Amino acid sequence: MSIKETLLDRLKSRQATVGIVGLGYVGLPLAVEFAVEGFTVIGIDLSPSKVDAINRGESYIPDIPTSRLAPLVAAGKLRASTSYEALRAADTVSICVPTPLRQTKDPDMSYVIDSVNAVADVCHEGMLIVLESTTYPGTTDELVIPRLAQAGFTPGENVFVAFSPERIDPANPKYGVRNTPKVVGGVTPACIEAVETLYSAAVDHVITVSSPATAEMVKLLENTFRAVNIGLVNEMALICDKLGIDVWEVIRAASSKPFGFMPFYPGPGLGGHCIPIDPLYLSWKMKSLNYNARFIELASEINTSMPHHVIDKVTTALNDDCKSVRGSKVVILGVAYKRDVDDVRESPALDVIGLLHKLGAKLEYHDPYVARIRLEDEAIMESSSYSADLLASADAVVIITDHSTFDYQHLVDHSRLIIDTRNATAKTAKSRARIVRI
Ligand SMILES: NC(=O)c1ccc[n+]([C@@H]2O[C@H](COP(=O)([O-])OP(=O)(O)OC[C@H]3O[C@@H](n4cnc5c(N)ncnc54)[C@H](O)[C@@H]3O)[C@@H](O)[C@H]2O)c1
Repeated sequence: MSIKETLLDRLKSRQATVGIVGLGYVGLPLAVEFAVEGFTVIGIDLSPSKVDAINRGESYIPDIPTSRLAPLVAAGKLRASTSYEALRAADTVSICVPTPLRQTKDPDMSYVIDSVNAVADVCHEGMLIVLESTTYPGTTDELVIPRLAQAGFTPGENVFVAFSPERIDPANPKYGVRNTPKVVGGVTPACIEAVETLYSAAVDHVITVSSPATAEMVKLLENTFRAVNIGLVNEMALICDKLGIDVWEVIRAASSKPFGFMPFYPGPGLGGHCIPIDPLYLSWKMKSLNYNARFIELASEINTSMPHHVIDKVTTALNDDCKSVRGSKVVILGVAYKRDVDDVRESPALDVIGLLHKLGAKLEYHDPYVARIRLEDEAIMESSSYSADLLASADAVVIITDHSTFDYQHLVDHSRLIIDTRNATAKTAKSRARIVRI
């Protein structure tokens, strides 16, 4: 049997060992799905606490209940290690490490480079290596293939190399790893066949594209589409505000059009590890080709200005109550970057809190999913308990994250002033609270 046939055979018969590098929001759900499918899965993470938790059968990712993880660990189908040596036994390695931005808004590729170097050190003939981290088009060709070549490996000949963007949407009750179609792009036809066979085992629909760069670009189109449309609707919110028109009513009515319109909603700014960051990977790449990705830059400018708009709303609303921000008690409701998740990466709540802090507000926050946050000055702030007293003590309550567990009627019944950045109070009955929306 050829090297490729041996790999395909091991994948189809579930004899293959699947390696996952980076066991975070992306890597752990993927590892679980492959283990459920009957593969032996080895997860690698540099965090000893994550590795220990997995080996105890305990999940730290809300979308993966411990009741799902524990039996897989107990059955020996899934184990974790901090050492890449464990990957010598792996037939495939999917790399799911972070791709954040540096302070300067340039891509921080250090996690990808470190993990690719470490995988190259333990690579063996017949291994399939798939990069899943979101990144700029050309990364697989420019960073992965040369490092493997240094170790003596050629894609399509003695190893297989591909890119497959991760599309997971944390806290989405409808779409998970299995029923979200997966795009894969291999370096050669043999690489495409190998990566398609791997993911077909754990995902219902696998879509092949002609190259890793195409697959890298697919992800950036998807997330740029969201960032630009959110930027557009945020600008509509700013425009409607100046015109004295309710943007939420406009969107509701426009959504009645059954074709050619898709509603997006304004908010306090973009958050999370993907939408605010990924498009900037593309604009960074394009700068190196002397091309200015204008839509991306403009959307980013508008979206990052939204926390300032929230501050304007708070300042004006307090002013209407003859109060200054300095000395006023402001309670922030929800600090996660989106509804029903515990993730605060890039959350606009952090910007709003930072700005209010600078203006001298007395701040508290409540988020049932986030026990504490680290502020810009490294100070730690802890979530206050939610109560009618907390609301009554606030000069203003600012809804940043519209968690579905919040009781919005209770909120409006016990607050005096609410700045609602998500239209979360739209369905509440009339109350004594004054509600200001963005
Ligand atoms: N979170 C999402 O919703 C989401 C969705 C789609 C795509 N993505 C992309 O997937 C990638 C991973 O994101 P995430 O949210 O899972 O990140 P994460 O921070 O939750 O997880 C990454 C994990 O990688 C580990 N790690 C870092 N460097 C490592 C190394 N050298 N070797 C081994 N492990 C290492 C970290 O300890 C961490 O546990 C990013 O590129 C992100 O843009 C994320």
